[in-house]
Amino acid sequence: MDRFKLRKAEPKDVPDILRLIKELAKYEDMEDQVILTEKDLLEDGFGDHPFYHCLVAEDPSEQSPVVIGFAMYYFTYDPWIGKLLYLEDFFVMKEYRGFGIGSEILKLLSHTAVKSRCSSMHFIVAEGNQASIEFYKRRGAADLSLEEGWRLFKIDKSSLLKMSSAEE
Ligand SMILES: CC(C)(COP(=O)(O)OP(=O)(O)OC[C@H]1O[C@@H](n2cnc3c(N)ncnc32)[C@H](O)[C@@H]1OP(=O)(O)O)[C@@H](O)C(=O)NCCC(=O)NCCS
Repeated sequence: MDRFKLRKAEPKDVPDILRLIKELAKYEDMEDQVILTEKDLLEDGFGDHPFYHCLVAEDPSEQSPVVIGFAMYYFTYDPWIGKLLYLEDFFVMKEYRGFGIGSEILKLLSHTAVKSRCSSMHFIVAEGNQASIEFYKRRGAADLSLEEGWRLFKIDKSSLLKMSSAEE
């Protein structure tokens, strides 16, 4: 691939972002867990207080440019080290992999993190996704589950509702 273009996502990209979210979920064998809609993505990412940011990669060689990859991220805070950039989703379509698009996206995200005075970039990777684990490690990533023993938890909505009503 000769050229590709990276840019900040715009509201018109929401259908493509959802398409790529679903492709990544499929890649991870968890497609049925995606319940998010285009409406959610539009409201949550492009209002006055966006919950997430997105970069998209485009193939400009087509008559109308095609979105071929994306990264979804947001800023979060760690009480020990302060500001963090959290990389939530990162995906390049299979036929476009290996051309440096992923590396360019990470370069831009690193620049954003440094400019925003973040101390680190955090993300989770599925245990079986060895190709990505190696991709990140080659770029300096440390495996915190192995090195520091952290485990990822969630409290789902039914438990939240139970707790919240128990407190009334
Ligand atoms: C991880 C991912 C976003 C990287 O995107 P990319 O555009 O392929 O990235 P690059 O081209 O910059 O680098 C890919 C690396 O794999 C190698 N590679 C070569 N051909 C490849 C191919 N066909 N597919 C994947 N990787 C290839 C490249 O040489 C490069 O190696 P390097 O680390 O030594 O530079 C992409 O592989 C992807 O979407 N994977 C599936 C989804 C995924 O696992 N996402 C991350 C979830 S945590």
